[in-house]
Amino acid sequence: MENVRKSIITEFNAVNKLIIAQLKSDVALVGDIGHYIVEAGGKRLRPMLTLLTARALGESKDCHVKFAALIEFIHTATLLHDDVVDLSQLRRGRPTANAEFGNSSSVLVGDFLYTRAFQLLVEIGNMEILKNMANSTNIIAEGEVMQLERAGDPSTNEAQYLDIINRKTAALFSSACFGAAVLNDVKSSTIDAMENFGRHLGMAFQITDDILDYFGNAPDIGKHLGDDLAEGKMTLPLIRIMQVGNNEEIKLIKEAITTKDRYAFEKIISIIEANDAIEYCKEVARNHRDLAIAEIEALDSNHACEDLRKLCQMSVDRVS
Ligand code: IPE
Ligand code: IPE
Ligand code: MG
Ligand code: MG
Repeated sequence: MENVRKSIITEFNAVNKLIIAQLKSDVALVGDIGHYIVEAGGKRLRPMLTLLTARALGESKDCHVKFAALIEFIHTATLLHDDVVDLSQLRRGRPTANAEFGNSSSVLVGDFLYTRAFQLLVEIGNMEILKNMANSTNIIAEGEVMQLERAGDPSTNEAQYLDIINRKTAALFSSACFGAAVLNDVKSSTIDAMENFGRHLGMAFQITDDILDYFGNAPDIGKHLGDDLAEGKMTLPLIRIMQVGNNEEIKLIKEAITTKDRYAFEKIISIIEANDAIEYCKEVARNHRDLAIAEIEALDSNHACEDLRKLCQMSVDRVS
């Protein structure tokens, strides 16, 4: 990731500078929470996608920097909201904003970041991108609501899970690439390809995130393990057990999900391991990685294109 970042370092630093500048507000708490979450780091993966797409298709322009910054704002807003809903206590290796400042402040500052993103979009002034972002933020909200509706329901199946992650995560990855391509003024088949590329990459990324929620190294991922179980979320590892596990294992998953029992974590880890469920999840993630890579095969290959392929690989191999 560090190497990929290096190849776009000038624009990347400009994005970070703009993010800080755009946190400015007369209202002190807005700046306090904004800086708190933004300065905790984060991979800045979505802005990187925007910047690499720009370079893969042509030139990276000032409007790409602005677009990359606002994509990160939308991502950050969803994290502020998501951690409230998920009752999460740790993010980017720090107490979550909700743990530090309370739920109300997190929700409202999340709204500030969301709306600041749309102010920046208006400055860019491209109707096609504005329309895409209006749709995708609406779809992300639907994805989070669908997930909430499904929390505590062990009957959630693979198709329903894929639908949720497509909305809550892949939509923004897709928009990050779509917007960059539109700003490069490339032909519509290339814009479609980049949109699909981002979508598949987002799917691979979220499936891997859901594996890491059980098997990650907490200091690496900067989040607590077991948050999904504690929220009664049926993610792919558990859905796989429901497909292939024995009666006793299925019963245990049903109980843990219905009661949102964080303390069943160790037992569930053993069940996942006994059923080789992670290998299955990795296979699904790898399929999306391959579909993403296939979308950009027809592009004239350059360094940025190569880096986009590397990000696909990293999204399934990642530890954080
Ligand atoms: C976290 O995204 C939310 C998911 C879609 C899994 P990231 O893992 O990209 O979060 P940061 O920005 O690096 O903290
Ligand atoms: C994150 O989903 C998706 C959005 C923020 C829209 P998760 O709930 O899986 O992300 P983490 O694990 O909290 O980062
Ligand atoms: Mg969460
Ligand atoms: Mg997660």
